[in-house]
Amino acid sequence: MRKPRYIIYDDNAIAGIRKAAQAAALAKHKIAESIEVGMSTAQLDTIAGDIIRGLGGYPTFLNYHGYPGQICISVNDVVVHGIGSPDVIICDGDIVSIDVGVTLDGYVGDNAMSVIAGNTRLDEDVELLDVTRKAVLAGVEAARAGNFIKDISAAVENTAKSAKLGVVREYVGHGCGVELHEPPEVPNFVSRERGTVLRAGMVLCIEPMFNLGTNKVFTESDNWTVRTRDGKKSAHFEHMVLITQTDPEILTWLKM
Ligand code: MF3
Ligand code: CO
Repeated sequence: MRKPRYIIYDDNAIAGIRKAAQAAALAKHKIAESIEVGMSTAQLDTIAGDIIRGLGGYPTFLNYHGYPGQICISVNDVVVHGIGSPDVIICDGDIVSIDVGVTLDGYVGDNAMSVIAGNTRLDEDVELLDVTRKAVLAGVEAARAGNFIKDISAAVENTAKSAKLGVVREYVGHGCGVELHEPPEVPNFVSRERGTVLRAGMVLCIEPMFNLGTNKVFTESDNWTVRTRDGKKSAHFEHMVLITQTDPEILTWLKM
């Protein structure tokens, strides 16, 4: 059978996806609150696994295409897919990006955020986080029935442009619900393709990765860790959004 270009979920599935997304949101916030200067990212990964299982869920990323961590922990110039390590110690002023997937009752919630550890907050780092967070919300605002994927991409990309940040092109947002990665792709930049038209019942992950410097990245020899080529810092925020007949619903906006 031909691969579908998008999935429309019914009310029953949406109820399940909503629960998984809320668990992912709660886990993400609890994990972020657990971050302490001086701990290793391996320690944080262990705490994260405990938090996810404590909510009745399973860490979606574990063993996904062989991924060895329970969540992704990406520090400073690591853009995405950082694996918790005993050798990576979180330091004052570090940008720590956590990407958290939770599988609950057969549905998947996926969301990410960047925080600054400790008390040292460089102005440019604070702005990087603010702009990347805003870009997700600009994308959500465009996630309306009748619009195209391209409208989300444009809203995200324009937010980065106004702040002169590098937009990572190798990794994109995606559909999500029963599988972690479902069609369609949701790029953070505009190309010649306008993508599929948005319809009520579609669930999309919008996840810009913005860099202080170049948008160019490389993957380390562990085949996972993605870093900026110039070593400058990167931020990553992600929300899961449901397209409706009216306003978009951010499924990973914490309601509890
Ligand atoms: N949120 C990321 C994504 O949507 C997480 C995938 S990491 C992996 O692509 F390890 F699971 F691959
Ligand atoms: Co994702």
